[in-house]
Order: sequence, then C-alpha cells, then structure tokens
Amino acid sequence: MELKHNADYWQDRWQSGQTGWDVGYPSTPLAEYIDQLENKELKILIPGAGNAYEAEYLYKAGFKNVYVIDIAFGALENIKKRIPTFPESHLIEGDFFEHNNQYDIILEQTFFCALHPSERKAYCKKMIELLKPSGKLAGVLFNDSLFTDHPPYGGFKADYEALFEPYFSIVKMETAYNSIPPRAERELFILMIPK
Ligand SMILES: C[S@@+](CC[C@H](N)C(=O)[O-])C[C@H]1O[C@@H](n2cnc3c(N)ncnc32)[C@H](O)[C@@H]1O
Repeated sequence: MELKHNADYWQDRWQSGQTGWDVGYPSTPLAEYIDQLENKELKILIPGAGNAYEAEYLYKAGFKNVYVIDIAFGALENIKKRIPTFPESHLIEGDFFEHNNQYDIILEQTFFCALHPSERKAYCKKMIELLKPSGKLAGVLFNDSLFTDHPPYGGFKADYEALFEPYFSIVKMETAYNSIPPRAERELFILMIPK
C-alpha cells in the first residue's frame, strides 16, 4: 500500500523535532488500562509507538512480550537510548501495514490520526489480521475535527462506529474520563474485539 505519509516524512519530523504529539509520559487512559491487566504474558503491540512511554510502562511493570513498531528509525533510536534493556528484537522498524504477527492486545494512541483518512479501512483490516481471535484493540481516538490536510487527521464517534463496526464488536467507545488535560473531552476510550 502506498502510504500518504511515508518513512521519510515521519523521519523528517523526528529529526526536526516536530513531535508535538509527544506528551513525555505514559498517558493516563492507557496507563489505567494497563494497570488492570493481570496476565504479564500477554503479547502486546504498540504501532506507531513514537517514544513509546506506554511500552516502557508495561516493560517496567513486568510485561515481557511487549513490541513496538514505528516507521521512523529516529523513534526507535530514542527508545533504545532511554530504555537500554528493552529487548532490541521487540523494537521493530517498519510499516504497520507490512507487519505480520499476532497479538493479544494492540494499543492505539495517536497512530490512527497520523494516517491519512483514506487508509482507515486498511487500518481496520490490518488490525484484524494482527489480533488473535480473542485479541483486543484498546486505546484512544480523537473525537475532534483536528486537520484535514495534514496529521493529526480528525474524526468523530459516529464516523468511527461506521468504520469499525464491520470488523469489530465495539465494547467501549466513550469519552475518556481520565484524559491528560490538553485532550480532556476530546478523546474516546476504545475497546474492541474482532468480529
Ligand atoms: C503522531 S505520532 C504518535 C506517537 C505515539 N503513539 C505517541 O502517542 O506519542 C505517529 C507515529 O506513527 C509512526 N508511523 C506513521 N505511519 C506509520 C506506519 N505506517 N507504520 C508504523 N509507524 C508509523 C510515526 O513515525 C510516528 O512516530
């Protein structure tokens, strides 16, 4: 699939420090979701992970099957520097759409909105492929118009319901009660299972 924003686009953003999405710590909706996971053996993927604070949070909490994939090597270099003990084979430099494996949980945060809206159906199909039948897609999606000509691309709950319903049973899609302050009332917590 020809991506609207390719590896060079994202690597340029990492290199030039245009990473306004980076909050510098594990975001509260994801951290609270992680806190209630009991099985440390769960195989978890964070796509478009960036600085992957949530992967670090999981790793330090004893989850050993945590993987991140990012198309920009700058993101992965940062993670290696910050968490030198994080298993290198779990840091995947590559395109989410070309990745092959299966996971119990995939965590979403500001990856969906980084993709051009024309790639959203492909995102759903790829998520289905990457999740075990009993797997879960969990995380946050912006419920806001944001931008239409560059990332982050916006969207609203009704758009997401129509998009995801053919592929997923939507267990939860509601305004997050625990967003970080700049995202308060502007993001939905999602929990979905493959149909
Ligand atoms: C907006 S940033 C979000 C980073 C991180 N999720 C966060 O919340 O801080 C989007 C990230 O997705 C990566 N990315 C974009 N397209 C990708 C693709 N097709 N496959 C894997 N990573 C991709 C970019 O390099 C960037 O690091």
